[in-house]
Amino acid sequence: MIIEPVVKGVVARSAHPYGCQQAIRNQINYVSSAEPIVGGPKKVLILGASSGFGLASRISLAFGGSNADTVGVSFERGPSEKGIGTAGWYNNIFFREEAENNGLIGKNFVGDAFSVQMRQQVIDYIKAEFGGKLDLVVYSLATGVRPDPETGELWRSSIKTIGEPVTGPTINIETDTMELMTIETATEEEIEATKKVMGGEDWASWIDILSEAGVLAEGCKTVAYSYIGPEATHPIYHRGTLGRAKTHLHATGDQLNDKMAQIGGEAYVSVCKALVTKASVFIPAFSPYILALFKVMKEKGLHEGCIEQMQRLFSQRLYGQEKCVPVDRQRLIRVDDWELDEDVQQQVSQLMAQITPENFTTVGDYQRYKTDFMQLNGFWLEGVDYKARVNMETLKQLAP
Ligand code: NAD
Ligand code: NA
Repeated sequence: MIIEPVVKGVVARSAHPYGCQQAIRNQINYVSSAEPIVGGPKKVLILGASSGFGLASRISLAFGGSNADTVGVSFERGPSEKGIGTAGWYNNIFFREEAENNGLIGKNFVGDAFSVQMRQQVIDYIKAEFGGKLDLVVYSLATGVRPDPETGELWRSSIKTIGEPVTGPTINIETDTMELMTIETATEEEIEATKKVMGGEDWASWIDILSEAGVLAEGCKTVAYSYIGPEATHPIYHRGTLGRAKTHLHATGDQLNDKMAQIGGEAYVSVCKALVTKASVFIPAFSPYILALFKVMKEKGLHEGCIEQMQRLFSQRLYGQEKCVPVDRQRLIRVDDWELDEDVQQQVSQLMAQITPENFTTVGDYQRYKTDFMQLNGFWLEGVDYKARVNMETLKQLAP
C-alpha cells in the first residue's frame, strides 16, 4: 500500500514508518556532530520515550556523546486491521535498531506507564538484563488521562484558564485555517485533575518505587520537563490548569532532590522551549505565539527543535559542568533562555499583533509549524520515497 498523510483537526490519523526512520536518522546525525555530552549517564530510563522531548532525550543520550543504553516506556499502537499504527510505534523500533547497530541497548516497553505492572516489568528487566542500576531517569510523559492508582478511576486533564475565559485564534492543521476559540475557566475539580495527570505525583511515585527496588545508582539524576513561556501566554498556560500542574511538578522536583541526595543524586525540572509536538498542538490559542516565535527565532539563527534543545540540556546543563548544574532562583534548569530573550520576545509580540486568520500562513512561520507536525508523523521528510509501496506484512513483523 501507499501511505498518505491523514490529519483530523490537530490529530494525525496515519504515520509513515520509513519517514519516522528517516526522522530518527536525521536526529542522530545532528547530535553526532553537535557539542558532545561529557561525563554523561550510561544507563538511562526514559518515561515517554517515543516522541517529542522524550525521544529527543533518548537520541541525544545514546548518540550525542554519552553512549547511553536506554530503556524506553511509551504508549503506542502497532499495525492492525485498523491502520498502520502510530508514529511512536515506529520511532521505538527504528531507534532500537540504530542503537543495536551501534552496540547499545535500546529496550522498549510499550504500555501504560501509570500501571503497577509496567513498573514491575521495568524493574525486573533492569535487574535481570540492564546491569541493575540506572544513572538517569527522564520523565517526559504527556497525556490527557491517568488512572487513580487506588481506585482505577480516570483523572482527565483539561486545558483551561483560571479566573477569566480567554478567546484566541487556534490553528486547524487539517484545513490550514485559524479559528477563534474560547478557553473556558476550570472548576476546582478540573484544576485538581489536571494536577493529578500532568503534575509531579506519578514522577515521584516512579522514583520511589525505583529507589525501593534498589535500582538507582549512587549519584543518579532525574529530570522532568516543563514550560513557562512569556507573559503574553500566561493567561492560557502558566496561569491556567497546565501551569498549575507544572507548578506542582516543580515542587515535586525539589522534594525528589532531597530524596535523591541520600544516594548522592539530584532531581531537576528543565523548562523547555515551545515546540510543535503531538501534545502541544492541542493547546488552544497558543499557535499564533508559536508561529511568531518560530519566525523570529529562525531569522535570528536561534531556532531549535526538540533534538537541539535536548542536546543543549545534556551537554551544557545537566552534565559537563565543572561545578554544579546551572539553575535559576527557583532551581529550574532553563533551556527556554533563547525563547525568553528580551529582544526575541519584543519582536514576537510585534509580530503576534499583526497575525490574523487571513495572513497567518505568511506573517507567521506556518510552513515550519506544519512541516514539523507532518514530520512528527513521518511525512514531508527529504530522502523518503513516499510513492513506494509499503508492505503491511513486513511492518507487522517489526517488533518493538
Ligand atoms: P509527546 O506527546 O511528544 O510525548 C509524550 C510521550 O508520552 C510519548 O512517548 C507517549 O507515548 C508517552 N505516553 C503518554 N501516555 C502514556 C502512558 N499512559 N504510558 C506510557 N507512555 C505514555 O509530548 P512532549 O511535547 O514531548 O511532552 C513531554 C514533556 O515535555 C511534557 O511534560 C510537556 O509538558 C513538556 N514540554 C513540552 C513543550 C512543547 O512545546 N511541546 C515545551 C516544554 C515542555
Ligand atoms: Na516525550
